[in-house]
Amino acid sequence: MKNGSELQEANLDIIFHHISDLIFQIRVIDVHHYEIEAVNEAYLASYETSKEAISGRRIEDFLGVDQGIQAIKRFQEAMIRKKTIQFEEGYSFPKQGYKLFDITLVPLVEEGNVSRIIGIAKDITEKRMNEEHLAQSEKLSIVGQLAAGIAHELRNPLTSLKGFLKLIQFKNSDQDIDRYAQVMDSEFHRIEQIIDEFLILAKPTKINFNYNRIDLILDEVIELLSGQANMKAIILTKEYHSSLPEIYCESNQLKQVFINLIKNAMDAIGEEGEITISARECNDKLQIRIIDNGSGIPDEELEKLGSPFFTTKKNGTGLGLTICKRIVKKHKGNLTIESNKGKGTIITLTFPKGVGN
Ligand SMILES: Nc1ncnc2c1ncn2[C@@H]1O[C@H](COP(=O)(O)OP(=O)(O)OP(=O)(O)O)[C@@H](O)[C@H]1O
Ligand SMILES: [Mg+2]
Repeated sequence: MKNGSELQEANLDIIFHHISDLIFQIRVIDVHHYEIEAVNEAYLASYETSKEAISGRRIEDFLGVDQGIQAIKRFQEAMIRKKTIQFEEGYSFPKQGYKLFDITLVPLVEEGNVSRIIGIAKDITEKRMNEEHLAQSEKLSIVGQLAAGIAHELRNPLTSLKGFLKLIQFKNSDQDIDRYAQVMDSEFHRIEQIIDEFLILAKPTKINFNYNRIDLILDEVIELLSGQANMKAIILTKEYHSSLPEIYCESNQLKQVFINLIKNAMDAIGEEGEITISARECNDKLQIRIIDNGSGIPDEELEKLGSPFFTTKKNGTGLGLTICKRIVKKHKGNLTIESNKGKGTIITLTFPKGVGN
């Protein structure tokens, strides 16, 4: 029979080993040296190690130098303050990769000195991702409302401006004014196009999915942008052929994706360079790539790409990639970005091909 305190200890032991948080007990050797004394099952499982392999190891020896130093700095903080500290920090694991933790360190003070530190690390990776996802969709819905409002407000004055322009064109006999009116007409047309593009963000407009040939869609986009490319001495190279399988899509929306991506590539090049637009079958998917030899994207910016309003351009809205991602998702496709600073960027789009989307 176990007595009361033995029972209590056994219960604590159960909690210690069955809780999903990682719990660790660290022995303080001195302010620079820390040794792992005990860890729970969740800790062992995360690091795929055993009690024997971990007990008595120096923290930097077990975690590696970089993460070891990161941990030691925190232990030192707990030691100096002699108080429980709480913070968020990321650690890498052999199989699960990078994870974010909410970590609590409790220093145990014996005779005025901190002899041990107990740590509890709660995995908050998923929670944080959900929060970010929510914030992102919140931003998108604000953009949507804003876009709908602006589009609505702009359409009315635009219609009357266009009406009066027609009247001027009709009544006028001066050639110069006729030329100006033509320029104005095409600029009005452009404004209307921008409003339409914006409306894609605003609400699910009536869309018309059909089977379309991807090579024809790409041809049209390249044709549209070839003038701008020419002026900047940018070569647009086609790497696809007409025998590709059809894709079930809303062709205007897909065109918009390619226009955005090729424009980004042109911006990244500035002047003189090459953009390759390739399409090929890849297993049961259709893969389209936009490859540029422009400025590339620094690593720290890569993860921000596609967040609404993220832009590095003076006149950018930072909505191009957001729109692309949304359209691609609607087509059950995928968009990935690989980039090498100074060398260029590869955008890869994959779409399911054939029937049954
Ligand atoms: N091919 C590329 N090469 C280098 N940087 C790129 C490339 N594509 C996108 N970027 C970076 O990503 C940022 C966001 O692109 P996004 O298309 O969303 O917005 P934008 O081009 O800045 O503005 P806009 O709304 O007018 O498209 C750009 O400002 C640029 O820094
Ligand atoms: Mg853009």
